[in-house]
Amino acid sequence: MKGIILSGGSGTRLHPITKAVNKQLLPVYDKPMIYYPLSTLIIAGIKDVLIITRPDDAHHYKNLFRDGSQYGISISYASQPEPKGLAQALTIGEEFIGEDDFALILGDNLFFGHGLSEKLIEARKNNKGATVFTTSVEDPERYGILNYDKNETPVSIEEKPEHPKSHWAVTGLYFYKNEAVSIAKTLPPSARGEYEITDVNKHFLDNGKLNAIKLGRGYTWLDMGTHDALLEAGEFVRAIQKRSGTRVGVLEEVSWRQGFLSNKDLSARAFRYGQSSYGQYLRELVSEEIDDTNESIA
Ligand code: DAU
Repeated sequence: MKGIILSGGSGTRLHPITKAVNKQLLPVYDKPMIYYPLSTLIIAGIKDVLIITRPDDAHHYKNLFRDGSQYGISISYASQPEPKGLAQALTIGEEFIGEDDFALILGDNLFFGHGLSEKLIEARKNNKGATVFTTSVEDPERYGILNYDKNETPVSIEEKPEHPKSHWAVTGLYFYKNEAVSIAKTLPPSARGEYEITDVNKHFLDNGKLNAIKLGRGYTWLDMGTHDALLEAGEFVRAIQKRSGTRVGVLEEVSWRQGFLSNKDLSARAFRYGQSSYGQYLRELVSEEIDDTNESIA
């Protein structure tokens, strides 16, 4: 399965911060925003990733990630000339996707929770066409909203409804069978002139092929697209990290836990970060692992 991160858009809600800097490169506590969605793809077991950016921002992403091999994955790049909607990621990504199934994640979405990896891998296995993840929100007018019947079967999905039928927001992580690309190609733009991902999902719903998995209590989903949300996300990451001593969204760590990087690879990566606390954290991971292995041998 392949993965696409949509990391373009004009970020107008964050002006003037995003006038010169791309939103998804802004810091969220101690890492660029895009680290969080990229780590989510990696914990879903995805090793082959396409990042879609605005044409002018591509070189920043390439400087940051290069070909992805430092994380034991492959990263390639494509441009979206204008922000014409999330479903454009499927057509821009067509060549990259090839014959495969794929995941799409928005570059400003953060997912966190115990057992998320297992949940995502299970969802990949059970995907019959499209799979979305929903979470309860207070302000449903701002999102794609999904309504379930009493058997928890999805019955409707609407983009930013004036009169929402539920509080279940569709988060910015989607798993698709390959056919989603040809579906995206046939859809017309919406009244606001965008190619809507909700229209792609509606197509699968109408054909009985949409899975909608609730992320209940115990999971946190943050969309970091407003000033308050950006600050709250930074505070969230800081609080989790300070309390637990573990870090959120460390790409080398998640890749190593997935087996994409060996202990030796991780040590080498840690060395490159010098005396930074990020490098120190990676070094500690390796030495704890070696201690554990020695204990189990002894
Ligand atoms: O965050 C979840 C929500 O994301 C879903 O509930 C909605 O169904 C979905 O339409 C989307 O709504 P948003 O209002 O959050 O979409 P927004 O236009 O803010 O775009 C989300 C991200 O995608 C943002 O980081 C910018 C990027 N983007 C957006 C568009 C329209 C692109 O890279 N290219 C685009 O063409």
